[in-house]
Amino acid sequence: MAQDKVMCDIGFIGLGVMGKNLVLNLADNGYRIAAFDLNDEKVNDVIEQDKYENNSAEQRVYGCSSFTELLARLTPPHLIVLSVPAGSPVDQVCESLIGAGIQPDDIVIDTGNSLWVDTVAREEKYKNNFILFSSAVSGGEVGARFGPALMPSGSPYAWTRIKPIWEAIAAKVDEKSGKPIERTKPGEIVTQGEPCTAYIGPAGAGHYVKMVHNGIEYADMQIICEAYHVLRAGLSLSPDQIADIFEQWNKGPLDSYLMEISVEVLRHKIDDKTPLVDLILDKAGQKGTGLWTAMSSLELGTPAPTIAQAVYARSISSFKTLRVEAAQVLSGPETNKLSQSEQDEFVAHLHDAIYCSKICAYAQGFQLMKLAEKQHGWQLNFASIAKIWRAGCIIRAVFLQPIADAFERNETLENLMLDEYFAKQLNEHQMNWRKSVAEATLMGIPIGAISSALSYFDSMRLAVLPANLLQGQRDYFGAHTFERTDMSAGKKFHVEWSSDDKEMISIN
Ligand code: 6PG
Repeated sequence: MAQDKVMCDIGFIGLGVMGKNLVLNLADNGYRIAAFDLNDEKVNDVIEQDKYENNSAEQRVYGCSSFTELLARLTPPHLIVLSVPAGSPVDQVCESLIGAGIQPDDIVIDTGNSLWVDTVAREEKYKNNFILFSSAVSGGEVGARFGPALMPSGSPYAWTRIKPIWEAIAAKVDEKSGKPIERTKPGEIVTQGEPCTAYIGPAGAGHYVKMVHNGIEYADMQIICEAYHVLRAGLSLSPDQIADIFEQWNKGPLDSYLMEISVEVLRHKIDDKTPLVDLILDKAGQKGTGLWTAMSSLELGTPAPTIAQAVYARSISSFKTLRVEAAQVLSGPETNKLSQSEQDEFVAHLHDAIYCSKICAYAQGFQLMKLAEKQHGWQLNFASIAKIWRAGCIIRAVFLQPIADAFERNETLENLMLDEYFAKQLNEHQMNWRKSVAEATLMGIPIGAISSALSYFDSMRLAVLPANLLQGQRDYFGAHTFERTDMSAGKKFHVEWSSDDKEMISIN
């Protein structure tokens, strides 16, 4: 039991990279924290770092060696933040808190990337023990430290208590320019601007939205990586030359955090000469949120091919040994070196291909959230979600402002591509996009995400698709019936394919 009688505002469990930085962020914003981790070193580390960064004599983080001690440090009703890995660790902590005497009006906030259905089940499971609230955090360690994007959902009562804290620690956007307000130093706080957090909806909605954020993140990353690949392997440009191109692109509509960090990674050298990127093994890891997004799109029957392709691209990359073997057996096309002017044109095409593919990836993500909203009876505010993502999170980009504007213009917008601004962008830039897909394909460089986005665009904009033949095939082998364009909707037909006269029967 704590001997010094100092009471804290918030209990914090889990001091990994994200947890530690969130604690320091909370402390900077004036909250006193009771911190716990299974590893005592991590507890001491965050206390020491806070003391070092906070020059005043006042202690802001207090270590606890048990959940009982943590609860005793807090004034009821307790407010506890969890930053533990998604899955069973969340339940283990919840059960231990029950053992330590947590009360029904206490609030526990899960900030991890939990699967949204687990969050819904947990809220129900623990409702007689405490209020489980969820708020996924995006922004990596720097975001957590100096302002993440936060996607809270669950009990509206709990949100009234959490809101001022979340608004204080979240990233902020300048209301006029829509641009992030920089906060980079310990001790610094930002009190003006629009906070990158807003109540998303009931239990699970916030985690669903964060999952889709990650799905879009996968697509965004893969699109940039494909552009890199085309420039590196197709044009034989050096990482520095590619960084120069990306830096240029980052001044226009592609201006984004992911483009910015790609430039830094491309420029990084080992021993001042070898580009690190040339030494990084080309096998991508994944924790599962992109896969969950793709799975959800398949379950709901809404297309998100660019997101799914980004997940597949990671899977294909992991077959390194097989790819090395295949490289000995399977050949690609012969290619010619491009002249400087052809190369410049190629780069301009590629720019537009990335831009249009990015629009499609976001269109897929937002349409998926729209379908999920209908399915689960949520009331998502898409303009607000786009605004939350303008700063702090991994997909932050200038691009998010026109998305927010599009949903402000039309709250019921079914697909981003139909918004007047984005339709104009796609219509104007599509020829370069097409050329880029053709050029990369002729070079034998895989651009699955970029080309899947183009197919998505073409499929969504065509009033007639070949599903007529598909329905014919289904009817042929399985008597699955079909509708006719020249008959009233809903009327079903079947052809007796095996009979001599191929009679057509009206089913209803
Ligand atoms: C964020 C990121 C983060 C992400 C992990 C890695 O918003 O801060 O999306 O939550 O999950 O950094 O994810 P993968 O291992 O799946 O790439």
